Amino acid sequence: MPILLFCWLPVVALWAQSPVVKNPRTTPEDVAAGGRIYRSHCAECHGLKGEGGRGPGLTRGEYRHGSGDAALFNTINNGISGTQMPGVYYEDHQIWQIVAFVRSLASGAGRQKIPGNSFAGEKIFFGKGGCAGCHMVNGRGGRFGPDLSAIGSSRNPSNLRASILRPSDDLPMQWWTVEAVTKAGANYRGLRFNEDTYTIQLFDFRKDLVSLRKADLTRLQVESKTSSMPVYEGKLASSEIDDLVAYLYGLQRKAREE
Ligand code: HEC
Ligand code: HEC
Repeated sequence: MPILLFCWLPVVALWAQSPVVKNPRTTPEDVAAGGRIYRSHCAECHGLKGEGGRGPGLTRGEYRHGSGDAALFNTINNGISGTQMPGVYYEDHQIWQIVAFVRSLASGAGRQKIPGNSFAGEKIFFGKGGCAGCHMVNGRGGRFGPDLSAIGSSRNPSNLRASILRPSDDLPMQWWTVEAVTKAGANYRGLRFNEDTYTIQLFDFRKDLVSLRKADLTRLQVESKTSSMPVYEGKLASSEIDDLVAYLYGLQRKAREE
């Protein structure tokens, strides 16, 4: 009983604190201003009309990370940690204008209908496709590649298809292979996990995660921008790719309670 009570406390506290926040910037001029920022900062991932791509489609009018004005504001302002969704550095009123524009994209269009059979796709994933050797779905599978348990929430179907057929196109930087040599002569090769002005963190192929100070290095270079995931183009039938895409698109993040 005390544990249950403890769990509920933060929820109650949040609920008590958050009056319903309404977007103060919703005139046609605001929507147009938000649209300009959207086209330069968001469309590359969410599509010019919100149809999705590297990011999810935004036309449904409901958002997994919260659909209220305040929730959308937070998503756009802070980004979503642990995903490719970045935060933005804008004034509050501009973020509200982006919120207004994102709302204008909502046409009520639901999830895309796609060919393929997700049960067959699941079989290929855990069987002949060998995908589970590297990818985990809901706790089953390998750890070499990213966990795909909620991949359907973050990609649209055509983007999923492209990641299977040609993994090296559009490869995010954290999957680049880099080589670093320190002044002391130590040599590292691994995946570029993170980098800032002074340091770089990499998943060394032998030693796991290492953090290096750039000032200590004599050499730092990108060795390859090729994915370590095999190319499946030509290895699986087109209908089998359809099945895999149907399976992956069905792997959705559970809606967050508001
Ligand atoms: C580099 C790609 C990328 C860029 C640029 C990007 N996003 Fe995203 N966005 C994503 C991904 C990926 C997700 C899904 C994260 C997840 O839940 O796995 C996402 C999620 C979202 C969501 C939440 C969707 C939901 O169902 O809850 C909203 C809203 C959103 N983005 C709006 C924006 C806006 C507005 C911009 C520009 C200011 C932007 N994004 C820029 C990749 C991007
Ligand atoms: C040898 C290991 C390996 C195998 C086998 C493998 N993958 Fe991957 N996969 C990776 C790695 C590493 C990445 C991350 C780099 C990238 O995006 O290409 C990745 C990325 C992905 C992505 C993009 C994930 C994201 O967050 O952007 C998808 C989708 C995917 N794999 C699906 C599959 C499917 C479906 C199969 C089986 C047909 C498969 N993978 C087989 C290693 C593998």
